[in-house]
Amino acid sequence: MSGTVERFDEKARREVGGWGRTVVHRGELLRHPVYTRFLHWSVALFFVLSLLTGFAIYSPWLYRWLAPLFGGGPLTRFLHPWFGLLFDVAFFFQFLNWFAPMRWTASDRRWMRRIKAYTTNEEKVEAEDVGIFNGGQKLYFWAIAVSAVLFLITGLLLWFDDIVARWLVAACYVTHDIAALVMLAGFIVHVYEGTAAQPGTFRSMVDGTVARAWAWTHHPAWYREVTGRDPREDYERESRRLVERERAVRVWEREQDARELTGEAGPRELP
Ligand code: HEM
Repeated sequence: MSGTVERFDEKARREVGGWGRTVVHRGELLRHPVYTRFLHWSVALFFVLSLLTGFAIYSPWLYRWLAPLFGGGPLTRFLHPWFGLLFDVAFFFQFLNWFAPMRWTASDRRWMRRIKAYTTNEEKVEAEDVGIFNGGQKLYFWAIAVSAVLFLITGLLLWFDDIVARWLVAACYVTHDIAALVMLAGFIVHVYEGTAAQPGTFRSMVDGTVARAWAWTHHPAWYREVTGRDPREDYERESRRLVERERAVRVWEREQDARELTGEAGPRELP
């Protein structure tokens, strides 16, 4: 990223940072500052609004359900390009904000080769070289970037279709709709990955933080970078601690059963 963009992004982080608060408790790490969260949810809002209004225009069946939500057909048709433009504007700033960490590296190529193991949950802990974002997340980011440009070009041509050749209008429809369907598929996977598939991820976009255990599990190289600690060692120490705790609880339960059988006094504190 050039110096100018970096300086702009820093300034925006500082200014928008004042609009909210991020509290990092013990055992947590800062993942997404206020500015990043603000941009992400602006992108998400305008994306969903563009998608809903777009689907209303696209399919007569969906039109019946979706157009009334936006005040009827003509208003839906009017709003769609504006929502699309606002999506592009929000994503432009998100692009500047994430351009540096989203650079494609050798580690991402290796991640792509392991994608089957990732989707089938074969490995509980990610490979040591996975940084702040994994290959799949970067791929999604770049797919959005390409789609945003395609939406903008084809969308503007469709908006002013009376000054554009018919064949170009037809080509724009096809490109616009394919980009929307690809984005819809990516969006479904993204929401699943950011919520149900990986517990502890969603809060990073709400309060800005993640648990340390989440970081060494899913992004070990980033964990090493921000804490200066060895993710594998911390993971193994925590696994040993959990095993020991479980063993201590089992011993306590056996002793408690024995005490109850011999009529000894009530429950004692857990170890
Ligand atoms: C509305 C439902 C959505 C939810 C629940 C959601 C959730 C999240 C979460 C939790 C993260 C942080 C992941 C991490 O730190 O590892 C994230 C990142 C991201 N989100 Fe969303 N998001 C949503 C919508 C969207 C939309 C509509 C877009 C763009 C069209 C988008 C684009 C991104 C991108 C590019 C990232 C960074 C890379 C990645 O994690 O895939 N999100 N999202």
